[in-house]
Amino acid sequence: MNHRNNSSPQNTSSQKPLHIDSARLYRDGVGAEGITTAEMEELAPELRRIHQIVVAQSRGGEDAEFASLNLHAIMADSLASIEAMAAQIRRFEDVVVIGIGGSSLGAKAVHHAITSVRPDSSAPSLHFLENIDPYRLRFILQSRKAEKVGVICISKSGGTVETAIQYLILREWLEKELGKDKSRAHQWLVTDPASGWLRELAGREGLPSLPVPPKVGGRFSVLTAVGLLPLAVAGVDIRALLAGAADNAGRCATDDVRANPALEIAALFYLFDISKNKRVSIMMPYADPLELIVDWYRQLWAESLGKRMETRPGRPPAGTLPVRAMGAVDQHSQLQMYLESRLDKIFTFLALDSWDQDFSIPLPEENRKYFSYLAGKKMSQVLEAEFQATRQVITETGHPNMTLRLPAINEHVIGQLIDLYQRITVYTGLLYGINPLDQPAVEKSKKLAIQLLSGGRSA
Ligand code: PA5
Repeated sequence: MNHRNNSSPQNTSSQKPLHIDSARLYRDGVGAEGITTAEMEELAPELRRIHQIVVAQSRGGEDAEFASLNLHAIMADSLASIEAMAAQIRRFEDVVVIGIGGSSLGAKAVHHAITSVRPDSSAPSLHFLENIDPYRLRFILQSRKAEKVGVICISKSGGTVETAIQYLILREWLEKELGKDKSRAHQWLVTDPASGWLRELAGREGLPSLPVPPKVGGRFSVLTAVGLLPLAVAGVDIRALLAGAADNAGRCATDDVRANPALEIAALFYLFDISKNKRVSIMMPYADPLELIVDWYRQLWAESLGKRMETRPGRPPAGTLPVRAMGAVDQHSQLQMYLESRLDKIFTFLALDSWDQDFSIPLPEENRKYFSYLAGKKMSQVLEAEFQATRQVITETGHPNMTLRLPAINEHVIGQLIDLYQRITVYTGLLYGINPLDQPAVEKSKKLAIQLLSGGRSA
């Protein structure tokens, strides 16, 4: 289907909707590997049922089970305090944002997307510290002056070890360089409103902090203070981000699969897994600013859907493996496998409708005989041709694929993309009959690592 959503003639250029082209996921668009309209019709009653669950469980503000799908409304009252805190933090030259997984990937992805197309020279440089890596931390500590560094520590639980370690080291550095009292004016926390180490620290030392709504899990939290605070510091328009999410939510308000793109994509990806053995989901943006959006998607998809099927004993586990690719670079790295190996993949292309930065390709006479086809072309035209060609050969090979066309890279569009994928993920989880909001297996290795650090033995 072609979800153009042109229903709002008042859309300004910065508020245009995402164009979602799912035609090549269907048999008519891709051939035998595609889903038929009959298969979709058969699933329709189930789709209506899960849509009603999502509607019912998104109501009730912060306490709703799927509060994460309603953050565009829930967060409205908190925006002024987030912006006020961000304004204080913007006085620093460098801001270190400590957090991991859901407490980092969303903000990092949006920050990269927006600042790649619209750098804000008045904003501090943001440094996301995710992994525990002594080299990276040493580089920050050695290359920056403490008086110019602000620290935002983000952890919903308030006790994730990778985050805690880096924060402890940065706190010690700030205290040594600036003294205890002064160092406190360099620290901000985003954590659970009531419990955990960070919450206790905020209370004990009077550190400024913002809450994470308890019902919103890490990977669904980019539209809470977890993402919004660092993004506001970087000069991202967080109101436009939420407005984009709200517009997409409005677009997904019906249980009619022909009019609700999140429900349609969830249904198709679910059917590809259970009836066509498509177990690899490759997301391939043709625009560098969107590179980290794929990392955010990978966590959202993998941690939410990689589960045992609770309500369907005896059925295989749920989930398709999300894989990152980049156009055009991976044409020179992965395409051979895409075209000649198994038909176990589904592709999602992200492409830009128009580029506000471009280069005409200079082609002096002496080079023309080699590159005559580039005469008069712009860089973006070459990328678009490469995208179209790759999509065509992938389709001809028989791989189902869809294209999300972004009218531009701005907050409103990225907000739509975030809401769209959060919804697709929740719907897909409900179709599998699993809980998309938990991550029971992740705890296993965390517990074992703590056991090892406490002197225990590994298996
Ligand atoms: O999605 C999730 O729940 C996880 O990826 C968490 O975000 C991650 O483990 C970090 O947790 P916390 O925010 O509690 O430090």
